[in-house]
Amino acid sequence: METTKRTFPLRIDDNVAIWTEFKELTLRYNCLSLGEGAPGHNPPQFLVDNLVKAIEEGHNQYSRVMGIPELNKKIADVYGKKLGRDINWMTEIFVSAGANSAINSIILGIIDPKGGDEVVVFEPCFPQYQDHVQMANARYVPVPLDYKEGKWSFSKETFRAALNERTKILILNNAHNPTGKLFTLEELTTISAILKDFPNVIVLSDDVYEYLTYDGKHSIMFASLPDTFNKTVSVFSGGKLFSATGWKVGWAIGPADIINAASVISTTTIYCVNAPAQVAMGRCLGDVIETQRFKEEGVSYVQHTRKEFEIVRNYMIEELQRAPIDLELTPLPCESGFFVMVDISKAICKIPTRFLESHDYEILEEGQTPVSKNRVFIEGRVPYDLAFCRWMAVERGVIMMPNSLFYNKESPYRIDTLVRLSICKGYELSVWAVQRIKGKQKTE
Ligand SMILES: Cc1ncc(COP(=O)(O)O)c(C=O)c1O
Repeated sequence: METTKRTFPLRIDDNVAIWTEFKELTLRYNCLSLGEGAPGHNPPQFLVDNLVKAIEEGHNQYSRVMGIPELNKKIADVYGKKLGRDINWMTEIFVSAGANSAINSIILGIIDPKGGDEVVVFEPCFPQYQDHVQMANARYVPVPLDYKEGKWSFSKETFRAALNERTKILILNNAHNPTGKLFTLEELTTISAILKDFPNVIVLSDDVYEYLTYDGKHSIMFASLPDTFNKTVSVFSGGKLFSATGWKVGWAIGPADIINAASVISTTTIYCVNAPAQVAMGRCLGDVIETQRFKEEGVSYVQHTRKEFEIVRNYMIEELQRAPIDLELTPLPCESGFFVMVDISKAICKIPTRFLESHDYEILEEGQTPVSKNRVFIEGRVPYDLAFCRWMAVERGVIMMPNSLFYNKESPYRIDTLVRLSICKGYELSVWAVQRIKGKQKTE
């Protein structure tokens, strides 16, 4: 019997997830990883204590499918204050297996499975959006974020031209992965004004990095703008907020009809979320944001994490652009999130040709099998950023991510002269990794 399998033809990575290749490279070449957006430290001890307590208290069976009341009530309270409105914890919130699963359920819940609907996405973007859109049988329509004069921005005209009567969803990720951009109030107001001409569009506002904003800046929730709540679903990640990405707890807030449509899908696919983790996050959500006593008086856990990441970001930006270095790199400003982008344009000439000319770049020892590979091309060549990241992994022992991964395969906007580095792996590891990038031996 022939088995059919779903493929994701729009993905840049040819269905060999780029993470697969880079995870294999990490092991084989003993790399330090600045790849994945997962913190290098444990969640706060008070969260861990609450998880243990929740298990001991007996929160070990299936929970209410839209979320355990203790967590939903706390979400309603915390985000109600942020949005300046009452949120109904029973009908306007659903808890899911991480933000990613919430996004999938929202898209599947809104899009007509018969086809013809469109989803607009700012690129570069979190790559899973593309798979969710494809799974829902919708058309993916990218709008580019361009980097000019120290800022990522979009053209109003291009954005408007991407919308039409078939557009059902705009995915807006603020604070933004991978660029670290914060959409300004002016930009959000522009988006909101343009969307008035397209009343069918629901905004899926992916706010998972909401608290990780630097230099005293803040992220503005799209749903907090006038007249937007009723057509916006905002998505959050307990994993990102509490540095517990492996717990996979996320939540969505929005108008009851959309939350209901999405939670029907979520109930079908996951049924409910890890019960003790929900209880623990419910008990700690207020504390993590509001209580000013983490480690030092006057600082919340969120403020503490922000400071730690900011220190790493500052170190990386200063150190990578400081001479002497055998390859010229230009870090880009980063306002938020888990990542810093670095321009490698001036270092392309230094990439050894075997990484630029072929996907079979490894020099294998006898009997060694090659790692899994993405065999993806841009204009007939190996993307520069992919070649650069492979070179850094194999010869300098550091994992980072190529920016061209964060676009649709057919997108005309792909930029392959940037790489993404995590700033969430801790100061010590980051210093070590940056020194390796700068050519220090792996053994040092
Ligand atoms: C922009 C963005 N949205 C959603 C997610 C997924 O979050 P979660 O781990 O809660 O599923 C990520 C994870 O990296 C992300 O970067």
